[in-house]
Amino acid sequence: MNAPTSAPSPSPIVELVPRHGTRTIAAIAAGRADVVNLTFGEPDFDTPRHIAEAGCNAIRAGHTRYAPGAGIPQLREAAAAAVGRRTATPIGHDQVVVTAGAILGVYGTLAALVARGGGVLVPDPGWPSYVGQCRVLGHEPIAYRLDPANDFEPDLDALERLAVRPGVQMLVINNPGNPTGAVWRRETVEACVELARRHGLWLLADEVYDEFTFDRPHVSTVPLNEDGRIVSVFSCSKTYAMTGWRVGYLTASRETAATILRVLEHCASSVGTPAQHAALTALTGPQDCVAEMREAYRARRDAAVRLLREEDLLATTPQGAFYAMADVSRSGADSWAFATALAEQRDGAAVVPGDSFGPTGSGMVRLSLASSMEAIEQGIRRVGAAVRADGRR
Ligand SMILES: Cc1ncc(COP(=O)(O)O)c(C=O)c1O
Repeated sequence: MNAPTSAPSPSPIVELVPRHGTRTIAAIAAGRADVVNLTFGEPDFDTPRHIAEAGCNAIRAGHTRYAPGAGIPQLREAAAAAVGRRTATPIGHDQVVVTAGAILGVYGTLAALVARGGGVLVPDPGWPSYVGQCRVLGHEPIAYRLDPANDFEPDLDALERLAVRPGVQMLVINNPGNPTGAVWRRETVEACVELARRHGLWLLADEVYDEFTFDRPHVSTVPLNEDGRIVSVFSCSKTYAMTGWRVGYLTASRETAATILRVLEHCASSVGTPAQHAALTALTGPQDCVAEMREAYRARRDAAVRLLREEDLLATTPQGAFYAMADVSRSGADSWAFATALAEQRDGAAVVPGDSFGPTGSGMVRLSLASSMEAIEQGIRRVGAAVRADGRR
């Protein structure tokens, strides 16, 4: 018998996983000094010195072995205390699971709580990994629209119509939002919890940008978890400029935390132990670095809004996180074509196509404000010039 001459085919699931807009456009701009890069949702600040030192010290002290699956006990305690402080809700350490970035917190929640083939309501535009992970897990992502005319908050009647569809098991909300920069009003967050309750759904609340709001306070779901249906996901990545350390955490009822852990222990045995020590210092040390970054993002948001208005590109005023959506619909091109051409051109700009966040993002591009003021200004001017040039064609 002849041996097979080529590798077998990959799983057909791969074809269903959406293209990564941010990475695709960033790859076009990679290594080109003439292109202003506003793609990555990654703080341009370094990890604060005292946090990085704690990570180094942990390595020197020999904290280099596997950690418990749910996280080192001190970090679980510290995360429980930090969430408790931020949300004025007592949280036990056994309600916390430390995860390899919030992305694994989302994955573990989707994997542990939704049965295969179950429907998951995801925001549109929204962080693309909700859809990507649903596809990997064999769930059905069902987009609910966030209209810029409604400040990127959901239409609750429309959401209700989707929630009653057969097979729907979970509602995912993201507040403050990526890519929208929206900070939902208290009534909206409470209505989502109520809606999940009425329809017997799990609620996954992605709150990784909770520390970055500018005009109104963040409303957390943690105090609203009265009957244990809510999982709230947090991260050190954005709050402490620790994207490369890969530390996030989730809070849930004790039972649900244990259920999610049961799945996650097979995905990432534990989060890197030195990184957990760094995160411990982040959560228990001085918080001025967070306030400083918040003020820097606020100043950039203000500048971006002024420039977007001047260029007639403003979709809505972002209230939090570090993103702005620019309305480039006048260019006439679809947002993938627009973003690709702008990144490819000489002296261009790299921005993320709105469609990569869902169909409602069509006609928009996302600008990351986690970039220098100069890059933001130059990038917005270049987007404006490209829209005008396309519009004249
Ligand atoms: C909305 C949202 N959730 C989760 C994440 C994942 O963050 P982490 O680095 O903690 O995995 C991101 C990262 O961009 C995000 O924008």
